[in-house]
Amino acid sequence: MATKSKQKIKPLRLAKAWSYSPAPESASIAQIKDQYELFINGKWQKPKRGAYLDSINPANEKKLYRAAIAESEDVEKAVSAARTAYDKYWKKMPAAERGKYIFRIARLMQEQARELSVMETLDGGKPIRESRDFDIPMACNHFFYYAGWADKLDYAFSNRKAKSLGVAAQITPWNFPLLMAAWKIAPALATGNTIVLKPAETTSLTTLKLASIIEEADLPAGVVNIITGAGPTGSALVRHGGINKIAFTGSTAVGKLIQQETAGTHKKLTLELGGKAANIIFSDAPIDQAVEGVVNGIFFNQGHVCCAGSRLYVQESIAAVFIQKLKDRMATLLVGDPMDKNTDIGAINSAAQLEKINYYIRLGKKEGALHYQSDALLPKKGFYCRPTLFTKVAQSSRLAQEEIFGPVLAILTFRTEDEVIEKANNTPYGLSAGVWTDKGSRIFNMSRRLKAGVVWANSYNLFDPASPFGGYKESGYGREGGWHGLLPYVTF
Ligand code: NAI
Ligand code: MG
Repeated sequence: MATKSKQKIKPLRLAKAWSYSPAPESASIAQIKDQYELFINGKWQKPKRGAYLDSINPANEKKLYRAAIAESEDVEKAVSAARTAYDKYWKKMPAAERGKYIFRIARLMQEQARELSVMETLDGGKPIRESRDFDIPMACNHFFYYAGWADKLDYAFSNRKAKSLGVAAQITPWNFPLLMAAWKIAPALATGNTIVLKPAETTSLTTLKLASIIEEADLPAGVVNIITGAGPTGSALVRHGGINKIAFTGSTAVGKLIQQETAGTHKKLTLELGGKAANIIFSDAPIDQAVEGVVNGIFFNQGHVCCAGSRLYVQESIAAVFIQKLKDRMATLLVGDPMDKNTDIGAINSAAQLEKINYYIRLGKKEGALHYQSDALLPKKGFYCRPTLFTKVAQSSRLAQEEIFGPVLAILTFRTEDEVIEKANNTPYGLSAGVWTDKGSRIFNMSRRLKAGVVWANSYNLFDPASPFGGYKESGYGREGGWHGLLPYVTF
C-alpha cells in the first residue's frame, strides 16, 4: 500500500463535476436593531460618554448595527451591579432555583435558535451551516449541561463545600461568539457567581441577543451584565478592583497582558489562548476519513479556531497520495456567501484578520515552502480567502510555529512515532492535536506523550459540554466544559 512520494498522482478535479444552485438562508428572521446599549443591572443603559462602534457584516462589508462603547464609568456601574446582585440575591438563592434560571435560558435560546444562527452568520461571517448545526446548538447544550450541575455541587466536590467566588469578569473572542459566552456564563451561574461579560467588538450581536434572552428569563437584575466595546473596555474590566475572577479567551498577546495585570492581586484567572495543533496521519490511517478530518480541522470556520489542525504531519510513505487527495477535496470546497447553505468556507471575520492571513501566505512563500490554493471563485465584496496549503514546510519556519487563524495548512512529513511527537510538541502552544491510525495502542501512547489539552483520535474538532477543553504552555490554563469547568469558579 506504500506509495513512493516521487510517484506522480493524477488530480481528480471533482469541483468541475457539479455545481450547486444558490440556497441562501433568509435574513428576515433576525430582528437586528440599529443601535444597542449596555445591559447593566437588568436595564439597557446608554454609555456614559455616548460613544458607539459599528459592526459590519464581513461578507459584504456593510454596516449591520452599532454597539455602545463602555468606558470606565460604565464598567464601574456594571461591576457594582454584579456585586449587589451577588450579595442580595444570587449567593443566597437555593442552588436548585439557580438551576431553574439556567434551564430557562437554555430553553429560550433553543426556541430562538434560528434567529441566533442567522445573527451569528451575519455578524461574524461563518457559514450558516456551522452556526445552525454547531455553534448555536452547542451553546444551548452548555446551558442545559451546567443547569444540571447547579444543585449537585456537593456531589461534584465530595467532602468539600464549594463556595462561589463573587463577581466574574469574562472576555470573549470573535470566532465563536455565542458559544464562548455560553462556555463562560453557564458554569459561572451554576456555581453561584454573578457576571460582567464583554464580547469581541466585531461580533457582539448574539451576546446582546443573549442579554435580551436573559431579560426574558427574568434573572434577578445585575446577575448577568453585558458590556460592549473593544480592547480598552476589556482592559478597564480586567483592572477593576471589584472583580474576583477573570475568564479570557483570545490572543496569547492579550492573555499575557492580563496575566501581568493580575499578578499579585486576589483575582483568579483562566486563559484560553492560541494554538498550532498538529494533525498526525500514520500510514495505516483510514485515508479518506483522515482527509475529511484534515479539511474539517483547518478549513472549518475559515480556520478561525484556536484548536484548528493547522499543522499536518503525514507519514512519508503515504504523503504523496494523501496530499493529492487533500488537494482534490479542497478543489470542491465552496467559498463565498456565508448565508448560503452550501457554503463550506465563509467570510474572514475582519479586514485586519484577512491581512494577517495574507501576510502569512506571503511569508510562507518567502520562507521557501510550496504554495497551493484552490481556484474557488470569490465574491467581489467582503473578506475571503481560498483554502490554502503549503508543502515542504520547515519545522523551524514561522509558518509552522505561529498561529495564523485562517484557512492555511502547513504540511510536514515524518517517518517514526518518536520523530512526530518531538516535532508536534515543538511549538510554544499546546491546545489540541489529532492522531489518525488503525492502531489503538499507538493512540494511547501518542495521547500520553503529546503536550496538548485535547487529543482527538480518528476524528477532529468534536465537542461535548461534558468534556473539558483547555491548554498547556502558551495556550493558557484552566479548563472549560465538563466537571472541570466548574473548578475555576469555586473556592473551598
Ligand atoms: P484579542 O485577543 O485582541 O481579542 C479577544 C478579546 O479580548 C476581545 O473581546 C477584545 O476586545 C479583548 N481585548 C483586546 N485587548 C484587550 C486588553 N488589553 N484587555 C482585555 N481585553 C482585551 O484578539 P484579536 O486581536 O481580535 O485577534 C488577534 C489574533 O488572536 C488572531 O489572529 C488569532 O491568532 C488570535 N485569537 C485567538 C482566539 C482563540 O480562540 N484562542 C480568538 C481570537 C483571536
Ligand atoms: Mg460584525
